[in-house]
Amino acid sequence: MQSGLLNDTRYRTTTAREFNYLTAEYEMKWGAIEATRGDNNFAAGDDIVSFAASQGMDVKGHTLLWHQSVPSWVSALSAADLRDALAAHIRAVAGHFRGRVHAWDVVNEAVSDDGAGLRDTLFRQKLGDGYIAEAFRLAREADPSALLFYNDYGGEGSGAKSDRIYDLLRNLLAAGVPVDGVGLQMHVSANNRPSDAAIAANMRRLADLGLRIHISEMDVKVNGVAGSVDQKLEAQKSAYKSVVAICVAEPRCEAVTFWGVSDAHTWLTGETPLLFDAQYAPKPAYTGVLDALRRR
Ligand code: G3I
Repeated sequence: MQSGLLNDTRYRTTTAREFNYLTAEYEMKWGAIEATRGDNNFAAGDDIVSFAASQGMDVKGHTLLWHQSVPSWVSALSAADLRDALAAHIRAVAGHFRGRVHAWDVVNEAVSDDGAGLRDTLFRQKLGDGYIAEAFRLAREADPSALLFYNDYGGEGSGAKSDRIYDLLRNLLAAGVPVDGVGLQMHVSANNRPSDAAIAANMRRLADLGLRIHISEMDVKVNGVAGSVDQKLEAQKSAYKSVVAICVAEPRCEAVTFWGVSDAHTWLTGETPLLFDAQYAPKPAYTGVLDALRRR
């Protein structure tokens, strides 16, 4: 969800009619809240939570700790000061939304793209590998009612990054770190995505750790698909239907979140990756998702 779109009637009515779980696309990130140290602005996040409450919808907070959208003043901090600022941030944000969000993406995208290990972020450099566990413990303390998720991309199916995410979560759980679930972002292309079997197997091994599974940011790019627009949209429909069907078939897969409502507002400009077109008309992809949800 983008709070700035709530004054768009088509956005509001489509979102309220079609979905029951909202993730803040930007409004709850560190850089959006604390541009100036110690001065937290929750207004946009509150708008999202208020809208969701008015519609009987749940909210996932996104995201307490990520190496992007970090306030500019953070990078200059000493290790000790960064530790204090991060703790204060998590306590303030998770505390502010306490009891009003269903879940948090506590840590986002902490594993390196090549799957060799942890991403070499400012947080890892200054705080060490333990920063991830610390973030989860702070979040649990600040909002015991929220489910706590690790969220990442590129590890939806098989491969080195998927294995490293699995190892990270297994080790965190073994250490008693309060992780409740994993978000598989699922930013894929209709002509290039993990196989159904690989996604299902990966979900199953994560579920066997006791984790809840969310598909957390799904969108499906089409420009790489050869052929007419209709052929691109059919390939997109097939991808959405297959992936959502995998979630439906996995008992521990509890939610599918799409990274936007309409192609008019997507981070993937020009890829028409979502379920509704720029005029908010449902696309074949929308029908594919319904078919999967109805086990057709
Ligand atoms: O709202 C401000 C505006 O006040 C300001 O004038 C303008 C210029 O600086 O920036 C606006 O904020 C932008 C924000 O989106 C809201 O539109 C940020 O610059 C821009 O960086 C931000 O991009 C978001 C990006 O994450 C970085 O936070 C995208 O919308 C969002 O789709 C994208 O989402 C990420 C997930 O969080 C993590 N997974 C990958 C996914 C795609 O990158």
